[in-house]
Amino acid sequence: MTKTEERLKFLTEHSYGTWRAQKGWKKPLFIKDAEGVYIYDNDDKRYLDFSSQLMCSNLGHKNKVVIEAIIKQAEKMPYIAPGFVHEASENAVKALLTVLPKSLDKIFFSTSGTEANEAAVKMLRQYMAPNYKIISRYHSYHGSTATSISLTGDPRRWYAERARCTIPGIVFAPDAYCYRCPFGLKYSDCNIQCAKYVDYIIKEEGNVAAVLVEPVVGTNGRIVPPPEYFLLLRKICDENSVLLVADEVMSGWYRTGPVWAMQNWKVKPDILTTAKGCTAAYIPAGITVTTRKIADYFEEETMCHGHTYSFHPLVLSAIPAAITEYKKLTASGLPQKVSKHLEKKLYELAERHECIGDVRGIGHFWALEIVKNRKTKEPFDTKADKFHKLLMTDKIAIEAMKLGLYIAHWYDTLTIAPPLIIIEEQVDEGIEVLDRVLKIADREVVHTDMPASRSTEIFNKKR
Ligand SMILES: Cc1ncc(COP(=O)(O)O)c(C=O)c1O
Repeated sequence: MTKTEERLKFLTEHSYGTWRAQKGWKKPLFIKDAEGVYIYDNDDKRYLDFSSQLMCSNLGHKNKVVIEAIIKQAEKMPYIAPGFVHEASENAVKALLTVLPKSLDKIFFSTSGTEANEAAVKMLRQYMAPNYKIISRYHSYHGSTATSISLTGDPRRWYAERARCTIPGIVFAPDAYCYRCPFGLKYSDCNIQCAKYVDYIIKEEGNVAAVLVEPVVGTNGRIVPPPEYFLLLRKICDENSVLLVADEVMSGWYRTGPVWAMQNWKVKPDILTTAKGCTAAYIPAGITVTTRKIADYFEEETMCHGHTYSFHPLVLSAIPAAITEYKKLTASGLPQKVSKHLEKKLYELAERHECIGDVRGIGHFWALEIVKNRKTKEPFDTKADKFHKLLMTDKIAIEAMKLGLYIAHWYDTLTIAPPLIIIEEQVDEGIEVLDRVLKIADREVVHTDMPASRSTEIFNKKR
């Protein structure tokens, strides 16, 4: 046994792998370093990080400004109880107010996206009582604890349900998923039925407190809604006196171009939750922000939420540093230029590979949906297959790793979401590997004369 194999054996025997049967986690890759857009394994093999790890390392690896801010805070005051205020909280709040929509200005800090949503739900259910139901969507992930997994549409919820770790009062709405429209309609003759149906659900259900959505669906498909969708949804929420909550955990922090994905449609939520990119993943953080109206409600009502590590100084120190770096990066124009290049390269890829059924996305946030048959859209694997077999997307991602490309994936899509610092030559490097590994799926497709769908191209042009 090599030294690395010994270390893997020790680690997999004594620590849990997340979201998997443990027998499938015997040989994880031992990573020893990461810098810029690359990560390095124990044998010094280099991998291009084409998914910003879990769509969170938005500034790439080893950003000096963020690291130094954390070190400085660690030397000064690494921890103080959340009842105190300090310079780190003052700086984080000030920095956040420069990027948040003006209507959202009271902030709660935690340490993950899951907790950010947990806090949002507790607050909104207090505020909206006796109304308590929350409308979420099937293609969604909102976190792993009882509340946030109950809001989740993807198959991870099924396991939480089996474990009896879910909460009541969540209703699922159809997705704004044009490639596989749940109503069988076609944009733009569809009358945006996916949004209109939410009005129907609210009225039929009664007691609805909020609609909670990922503005651009993350793990479950980088689904960009039609341009009219959020304007309509905002109107429906207002007409029915229901709150609109935007889970920007993955879609926030310049991933789709602007700071927040909702800005693509100039729509403001009543509550915004975020995490991941807020510290560019250098330290775990969660953020829940509300309007002044909700904030005022808690002047008299008890805000019955908190953690030992709420407002943790180390977490907060990374936020202004990351915001400074994001602003510098976007001012340079690099992400805006490279995202156009990436988009073009992905569409070209779809011309060469029959297994690509749909190309969709925005900014640095893209999906290639892999199908067996472009005409019928028959998938290789379904939601129910996740966690049960080696999927086609697994096979593609495993082969890509062999060729030095890290790519996150789900049961039906590959996630192209590189750090915002990536340059065009590095995009080309990733595309070159994809060009080779997509042949694995191409070999098993049913040949048709259909071109790939470009389901969000029209939306991106309209913006
Ligand atoms: C949209 C969204 N919400 C919430 C979460 C949960 O965040 P965390 O894993 O930090 O708890 C995720 C994680 O991927 C996410 O993508």
